[in-house]
Amino acid sequence: MVFDFFRNTLSKITPYIPGKSIAEVTESLGITDVIKLASNENPLGCPVKLNHLANTFKKIHYYPHQESAPLIQKLSEKFGVNKSQIVLGNGSDEIIQMIAGIFLNPDDEIITSKHTFSVYQFVAYLFDASVIEVPMQSYRYDLEAILNAVTPKTRLIFIANPNNPTGTIITHDEITELLNRLDPKIIVVLDEAYAEYVDSPYYPRATELMRSHHNLILLRTFSKIYGLAGLRVGYGIGSEEIIRAMQKIRQPFNLNSLALKAGELALDEASHIERSLILNKKSKIFLYKELDRLGLNYLKSEANFICIFLPISGKEAMDRLLHEGIIVRPLESFKIENAIRVTTGTLPQNKRFIQALTKILAPKGDDE
Ligand SMILES: Cc1ncc(COP(=O)(O)O)c(C=O)c1O
Repeated sequence: MVFDFFRNTLSKITPYIPGKSIAEVTESLGITDVIKLASNENPLGCPVKLNHLANTFKKIHYYPHQESAPLIQKLSEKFGVNKSQIVLGNGSDEIIQMIAGIFLNPDDEIITSKHTFSVYQFVAYLFDASVIEVPMQSYRYDLEAILNAVTPKTRLIFIANPNNPTGTIITHDEITELLNRLDPKIIVVLDEAYAEYVDSPYYPRATELMRSHHNLILLRTFSKIYGLAGLRVGYGIGSEEIIRAMQKIRQPFNLNSLALKAGELALDEASHIERSLILNKKSKIFLYKELDRLGLNYLKSEANFICIFLPISGKEAMDRLLHEGIIVRPLESFKIENAIRVTTGTLPQNKRFIQALTKILAPKGDDE
């Protein structure tokens, strides 16, 4: 070992393992028509055309300015908040890190749940804080258990809503109760990466709650329904005091010019959002019906993915599906055994997934 002075916390951090890329699968298995249903991206793609970004590209030699970007103005109108209540991030991942960066001292605690997005844990370890992970109830966040887990060291509570990978939600009334009972010095981060897909009338109205609860931070992203995952655009909305602190520690030019412009343009693409929503609904109806036919258990989802329970391990299912040219996410890393998360695709992609799933689960000898 040459360097023995890496920070101790690094030994706690497991590197994030993203799903395999289409190119990787093509290269390693020689399959050319690979479909990726592993990372909850929009199968209809990006709504912004390249030529709409041509003017921005002509000015690419200038540094980008998020402070004056029309994207912030548009978001402030959309959410009915002041511009000073919004911060943009290079993906919402970066905002999660900024939140940890402004609140966590060594030995502080964050609370999150089992079976959820791993970045919350990652940022806590990065800042030498501890992670309290409470169990879920029926694959939903258990807010009572979260309240019971609060200690004098608790600084942040992270809630993904809908949760990744279960697709379950907590309601407006539930989050209101949590906020009412919680010490207002503890910050609640409501990560709504999949909000646009939600159907439930009981979904939290976060900006309304923010008016009375200054300890609430809302996170959103352009990576999912807006189809901009590759450009990395996320945003946080919160009290001016909190956002000011985040602006203080963010990298000066964290969002690139193309991302700022594409985010702004994507907000105008209402028809793309509408089509994506309709497709997602149709996909879920189709997949539920087929999974029922196959006798498989799954969780009804408010997002654009489904957690499916299998008679084999998630890792084995993923490997077998890869050989059929389909990339899905095994859920062992989310501490769910024998399960995968599949993103809804286009209708032909969903069909192909079901065919492949049927094939890999068929008893040996039944293969056509
Ligand atoms: C719950 C949740 N939050 C945040 C993110 C990160 O999104 P972004 O691409 O904006 O960094 C994801 C991505 O999968 C997610 O599932």
